[in-house]
Formats: sequence, structure tokens, C-alpha cells
Amino acid sequence: DKLIYFDTINSTNIFLKEHWKELPSETVVWASKQTGGYGRMKREWISPRGGLWFSVLFKPKNRPMNPWHYVRLYTMAIKNVLSKKFKLETVIKWPNDLLVDNKKICGILGEGIYTGKTVAAIIVGIGLNVNNKIPDELKDIATSYIEEKNKKINLEKLLKQINSTAYYKYYIKYFKNNTISVFTKQWINNLNIRNGDFIKIISQNGEKHGKIVSIHGDYLEVLLENGLIENIYAGEVSLRK
Ligand code: BTN
Repeated sequence: DKLIYFDTINSTNIFLKEHWKELPSETVVWASKQTGGYGRMKREWISPRGGLWFSVLFKPKNRPMNPWHYVRLYTMAIKNVLSKKFKLETVIKWPNDLLVDNKKICGILGEGIYTGKTVAAIIVGIGLNVNNKIPDELKDIATSYIEEKNKKINLEKLLKQINSTAYYKYYIKYFKNNTISVFTKQWINNLNIRNGDFIKIISQNGEKHGKIVSIHGDYLEVLLENGLIENIYAGEVSLRK
């Protein structure tokens, strides 16, 4: 119903950033192909035909405002749909990538639009590798559904399944009842990291090593090698073996 489709667009996230004011909450923008797709840390997101590239607009009124929760709605929904409907098991790499055998199949980018200090809108951009083949030079770090299963998925059906799972199984159930903490626990239980794990953190400020003390809704509490405790809100986190 609130679906806007493009054959080709620069980026579905950019479209929503330009039009969020006049569009209702929960509008979905889907494109078959993006020419200027981007991901976290401003990295290029290659978006050829065959993948599922879409963004969802949320304008929270009396709802949790933390953009993170909305990103996770999709992390959880996609993991659930891939497992239940398509027999593909994935692991959540903190904070919101989905991996198969340590290779990325899905990336999610949350962007908040602020008026002053309050969040006026949240844009969740989802990039899921489905029927697109992965270029050889990326095969060590990325995968797609077709690479794993040698089968195609109808993208429109998949999009509907993901959106209805996100909406009914998670959004209505936890966000509208203010039971986000229950949802956050589920998300934590599905992560690739646990308390006590030794990790490497790569962020804008460089590389750090440490041990996870505790995992929270929007950060990791980490005991660094230098003996200091730091809360990590973003970055690339990998396990150290
Ligand atoms: C990441 O892992 O860095 C997040 C990637 C997000 C890519 C999606 S594709 C649809 C939407 N439009 C964009 O330009 N980016 C997101």
C-alpha cells in the first residue's frame, strides 16, 4: 500500500531523505537497481539487479525514538524470514549485518533525521543479496541467496514477507506495547558475540582490542587491553581467536 517502486534510482535512502516530510510513516521505497547505493561509514554499496534494495521510513510518535531499534526490526525480520521460509540460516554480526559462513549477505543502514535534538524521522535502508551473483573479488567476504542455494527468490514476495514479519511479529508486538526490552533480549541472544569474548574493534579512531564485559541495547561495554572500560557504540567488531 505505501510502497513506492523505481526501476533505477541513485539510492532509496537518499530518496527518503529528500521526501520524508510529505510521506507517511512506514512508507517503503524499493528499487531494482541503485546507481549510488551506500552503506555504513559512507562505503559504496554495489546494488545491481537481482538484489533486494529498499528503505523504510518511520516517523515515531509516542514510540521508541532510538533509531537502533528500527534497524533491528529488520535484522530480526530478515533473519527470521530467511530461516523459516527459505531454509537459510544466518548469524547477526554486531550490530546489524547478517552473515552466512562469515560472509555478508545483508547490510542495514539506519539514518536519523533530527530537528534539533529530537528524531523527526528514521530511515532504515536494507541491502539483501538475493538473486545477484557476487563478483569474484568479493567472494571471500560476501554472498547471496543464489550463491548459497542455487535458487532464485521472487523479490516482490520476499519484500512483502520481510515487511509483514517486521510489522506484525516485532513492531506491533513490542514497539507499540513498550516492551522493547524483551525484543532487545531476543536480538542479543541472536548475536555472534557473547560476554567474555575477546574482540577487535575498528572505528574511525583506529583499532582497539578488548574483552566484552556486557552487551546492551545500544552499546558494548568493553574492557580494553590498557585496562580501561569503554562503551562502544559503533564500528566494525570481530572475534579474536
Ligand atoms: C552496510 O552494511 O553498510 C549497510 C548497507 C545498506 C545498503 C542499503 S541498499 C538500500 C538502501 N539504499 C542505500 O543507498 N543503502 C541502503
